[in-house]
Amino acid sequence: MRAIAIVNQKGGCGKTTTAINLSAFLAGEPRRVLLVDMDPQGHATLGLLRDPSQLEKTVYEALTREQGVTALREVIVNVRENLDLAPADVLLSALPEKLRETPGKENKLSEALEDIRQDYDYVIVDCPPSVGLLTFNGLKACSEAIIPVEPSFFSLQGIARQMETLDLLATTAGHNIQARALITLFTGRSDVSNAVAEEILRHLGDRSFNTVIRFSLKLPEAVGHGVPIAEFSRRSAGFADYRSLAQEVLAQERLPQESSRFASSRDDESSEDFMPAPPAALQRADYALEVRMEASPPTRVDEGVLFTIEAPHARSVQIAADFNGWVADEMQSFGGIWRKVVPLPPGRYHYRYVVDGGWQTDPLNVNVEPTPWGGYNSVFVLEGNNGNSLRR
Ligand SMILES: Nc1ncnc2c1ncn2[C@@H]1O[C@H](COP(=O)(O)OP(=O)(O)OP(=O)(O)O)[C@@H](O)[C@H]1O
Ligand SMILES: [Mg+2]
Repeated sequence: MRAIAIVNQKGGCGKTTTAINLSAFLAGEPRRVLLVDMDPQGHATLGLLRDPSQLEKTVYEALTREQGVTALREVIVNVRENLDLAPADVLLSALPEKLRETPGKENKLSEALEDIRQDYDYVIVDCPPSVGLLTFNGLKACSEAIIPVEPSFFSLQGIARQMETLDLLATTAGHNIQARALITLFTGRSDVSNAVAEEILRHLGDRSFNTVIRFSLKLPEAVGHGVPIAEFSRRSAGFADYRSLAQEVLAQERLPQESSRFASSRDDESSEDFMPAPPAALQRADYALEVRMEASPPTRVDEGVLFTIEAPHARSVQIAADFNGWVADEMQSFGGIWRKVVPLPPGRYHYRYVVDGGWQTDPLNVNVEPTPWGGYNSVFVLEGNNGNSLRR
């Protein structure tokens, strides 16, 4: 049996949507699947049961052995062919208090699953958006984790925090988890989300899924109807992406299990090779995200203005401008496209790129002005825009 926790302390990043749809696709393969709802919000339960008010018993009773319930099996309901659910509701929020004095309280789910190991090929645990007893129970019951991440400016930091939580678990409880990040809610509309998604794929290498879950309105609609996406819309991005995720998870069944979550699948190579080579990562990103990799003149994005210049062979590229006092600021290379996002108020700006020490105008911006000391600056005007995020 493989047990996979869907975990991220950040709220609303697609944990429950992933738990429901991954479970449903695995069940269709067919694999015998149990989805455990470890969130007092009970969203996974609501997403699979049309009428949860009929439920008498939940995981809370199984973990506390209350109301005559002594085994997880007694609270499990069958919701689809090959798909069972251990449901939750708001009562689960009382678990930390209830087990306050209980030794080994973080092992309750793991112990409860012991009895039913033989009954399932997969146990998928939907964790709440917090680090606490419920999440620790979920993690201790699993040897793998999927960390859904919405690509935003701060998500790399978020993944780092999540990895720290897993490290803590590994060091304090001797429990290793193989964690993989999954990019979710991907719109591809902002260059920043493209760049961050690409960065995640590149930095995490084998520790992220090739599949990227695109933003798809059919997913919340399906949840609203209490059904997995496969029963709601087979022509949506949500359907295609979660099916692809399930295929990736199934493909891992054939891989030898890694000894630790830090091991790469290329154990025999030196530590310098630990990170995947950029070209491979980029190919993957291109394939998976259809990332727009071209440079462009300055472009308004959610977090400010994105400056880009193509310089595949440069060792360093900076931007100098009137808005930074003509002090060259480092740019970052994404596959030879150097980028920097600068939060700016509306206005008229002059700038130049500094490529390996040489100052030059933006080759993609036709608007230039001569400078008093010779040469030209690139110029752009950022229009005001009511309610635009630049004003934040
Ligand atoms: N790929 C997607 N496209 C569009 N909407 C999505 C997608 N994934 C999730 N959503 C919607 O975003 C919201 C948050 O998703 P979800 O409930 O899966 O996140 P979560 O991480 O489980 O949240 P919480 O932290 O509160 O448990 C929901 O309304 C969900 O329907
Ligand atoms: Mg959730």
